[in-house]
Amino acid sequence: MATLISEQLATDPRVLQARDLLAVALRDHQSKLTGIKSTDPGRAMEYAKLITDFSYARAGGLYFPYLGSGMGHGALVELADGSVKYDFISGIGVHFLGHGNQQLLQSGISAALSDTVMQGNLQQNSESPIVVSLLLQLAKNAGSKLEHCFLTSSGAMANENALKLIFQHKPGSSRMLAFEHGFCGRTMALAQITDKPQYRAGLPTSLAVDYVPFFDATDPKGSIEKAVFAVRTHLGRYPGQHAAMCIELVLGEGGYWVGDHDFFIALLTELKANKVAIWFDEIQTFGRTGCPFAFEHFGLAAWPDVVTVGKLTQLCATLFTPELKPQPGLLSQTFTASASAIAAARVILKIMIQGDLFGPNGQNMRIHEMITRRLMAISARHPQLLRGPFGVGAMIAFTPLDGSEAKVKHVLRQLFDKGVIAFYAGSQPARIRMLPPVPVVTENDIETICHVLESTLLACAGS
Ligand SMILES: Cc1ncc(COP(=O)(O)O)c(C=O)c1O
Repeated sequence: MATLISEQLATDPRVLQARDLLAVALRDHQSKLTGIKSTDPGRAMEYAKLITDFSYARAGGLYFPYLGSGMGHGALVELADGSVKYDFISGIGVHFLGHGNQQLLQSGISAALSDTVMQGNLQQNSESPIVVSLLLQLAKNAGSKLEHCFLTSSGAMANENALKLIFQHKPGSSRMLAFEHGFCGRTMALAQITDKPQYRAGLPTSLAVDYVPFFDATDPKGSIEKAVFAVRTHLGRYPGQHAAMCIELVLGEGGYWVGDHDFFIALLTELKANKVAIWFDEIQTFGRTGCPFAFEHFGLAAWPDVVTVGKLTQLCATLFTPELKPQPGLLSQTFTASASAIAAARVILKIMIQGDLFGPNGQNMRIHEMITRRLMAISARHPQLLRGPFGVGAMIAFTPLDGSEAKVKHVLRQLFDKGVIAFYAGSQPARIRMLPPVPVVTENDIETICHVLESTLLACAGS
């Protein structure tokens, strides 16, 4: 068998030397990022204008005045205004390996040397089948019946594909079930499943959705009764009309409310008995609990018909059972993802398979413990500053001060200005959430950000 020309390029001594040089150059410059740094006054005006012009052009302001410089080091990121901040939201869960990761530099170099920028339906390189098989291996290891996997570039598209599989599988059905306060994305259809009125303001009702209350840890038995009652009521009102229930096992945008095994089993039993397909939306939870899939973490491997994943995987995917196999033509697209996203997905999935992320003593749980222990200590010192912590694994939240949206927004902006990036979740009360870059975050980073957090909360409580 002759060596492929692409393999010859990959092992060309000039390429190998260039790779090494790039790695060393990155390391050298990264070593200058050692902690929080404030804005360079010489850049402040130009930066502010850039933000203002960009906000105008996109017809809406940015949540934070964040424009990255393209340089980062682990949990630290440099912005184009010269400031350096701790990134504890990771682009809402995307930069799981932190900023300026050496392994991703190497996979990115391979991608840049490959022949195209974007890969898609008609032309994919041999990395896509590897990514698909890694995802399916994880699904198999979990004990699920998911045998197929279709890649795409966004969580919303993975969820749209899930919806199409689900409806094609149950011809004549027209409705969905979903959790109250759930989030599923913002396409015309998904904005109906997403239970947030602002996100569908002015849109026609493109999909009929009936909502079910989520688990309430203060009333486990009552939660089961309420959810099962709601499901029975909806199914009784529209017999045979519900194709599936979209289930977030931990409400993400809704506020990091964590579900429960018995609660889910009661609900899933009701759904299965009524031939309603079970769809776990793991766009946010995938890779962040005690297991690769949150359904595994909650002991639900036998149940899903469809599971969608995204964010930290860099590309997104819809995994499904053979029963949901689509008819030709249902799923297709020009773009699967960029060559660099596909190559990065492979790196990240390998870390998920071979690394130390999962299990009761894995990195996700260790980071959870380190952060929540400090949050509890702040709360013990100043009970008025925060309630919580909430969440699971590498999804951590707390309610600051009175939990009003205005206060949470204010605290987040103050934190940002002081060099820590977090984000809101939920409403009434709203929470502050963190999605730390688990494999690279250090105890020292956590110590620093909790220190900034405490002083910021104290200042905001007094203001
Ligand atoms: C649970 C869940 N589903 C779907 C989505 C939509 O993903 P995307 O923003 O990549 O379209 C998100 C994004 O936050 C999410 O958290």
